[in-house]
Amino acid sequence: MSGLVRIVEVGPRDGLQNEKTIIAAADKIALIDRLSATGLSCIEATSFVSPKWVPQLADAAEVFAGITRRAGVRYPVLVPNEQGYARARAAGADEVAVFTAASEAFNRRNINAGIDESLARFAPVLAQARADGVAVRGYVSTVLGCPYQGEVPVADVVRVAARLHAMGCAEISLGDTIGVGTPAKARAMLRAVAAEVPMAALAVHFHDTRGQALANILACLEEGVRVVDSAVGGTGGCPYARGASGNVASEDVVYMLEGLGMDTGVDLEALVQAGRWLATLLGRANGSKVGLAGVRSTTEETQ
Ligand code: HMG
Ligand code: MG
Repeated sequence: MSGLVRIVEVGPRDGLQNEKTIIAAADKIALIDRLSATGLSCIEATSFVSPKWVPQLADAAEVFAGITRRAGVRYPVLVPNEQGYARARAAGADEVAVFTAASEAFNRRNINAGIDESLARFAPVLAQARADGVAVRGYVSTVLGCPYQGEVPVADVVRVAARLHAMGCAEISLGDTIGVGTPAKARAMLRAVAAEVPMAALAVHFHDTRGQALANILACLEEGVRVVDSAVGGTGGCPYARGASGNVASEDVVYMLEGLGMDTGVDLEALVQAGRWLATLLGRANGSKVGLAGVRSTTEETQ
């Protein structure tokens, strides 16, 4: 395999949203600024959701205003509704992501809406974004299983992904929210979605609950996907998905992609250092990865 893979770094949003102890806005800003210096081209900065639902990200406007935006780096933010979109725009965001699921049960718990209801909620957001020239990403959660419903039919994933794309989402990220997928299942799901939505408009988003994330990503790369979501330090999880654990670690994804001869534009050593800094911040020192045993510093490895 060769070519460019775009990493969408979701650590500042997905990584931090599940942290119980409130992290200071200044530290969130410092994290994003560190990540901006690693060569990452897309960093999901925060989330303009209800502060009652996700208190950790109640400081979204302050964080977004405080970061030093680097030329060539995109800083999308999550918005669940028109109110979130208005807050995001007021804070200066010029790229957003809406999010729904392939499972009705999870969607109700996560955003208090059924799937069709959530899509209807996004319609005015997408119309406004189009008028504003704002690119919108659409997330589909629970694509390989749901903590409440169990099995999720692939046809449901395809339907929701195709709807989001038809509504104007430029990119659709397929999320294994609780990390239950395995490579063959991930490949089959992606293939089915790609029959309806161009592969170039698809991204994959794996949580690593059962250690399958890298294997799943490899299967999806073989299938043709070239956009991969990951979180520095393997942080993350959704507070409304029982059993969700960390995202696949960005450090591991970059390491694997480099090994495959693929280009990410990311300086692995700088990313590892950012992960270590975050681990210390979260009080989980030792190793670059926050959640799991970590990739070591590349300089150390050559010593
Ligand atoms: P609701 O309670 O049904 O909302 O929540 P509502 O419209 O009835 O409003 C209730 C209150 O929230 C009102 O305030 C609103 O003003 C306020 P009150 O009158 O009670 O004082 N409110 C807001 N405030 C600020 N910003 C907003 C906003 N909207 C309403 N945008 C809602 C519905 C969608 C708001 C809520 O359920 C919510 O915020 N959910 C977010 C949950 C979340 O963030 N989950 C994690 C992200 S998704 C994820 O992690 C998965 C992903 O990583 C992919 C994967 O892994 O699969 C993306
Ligand atoms: Mg996630």
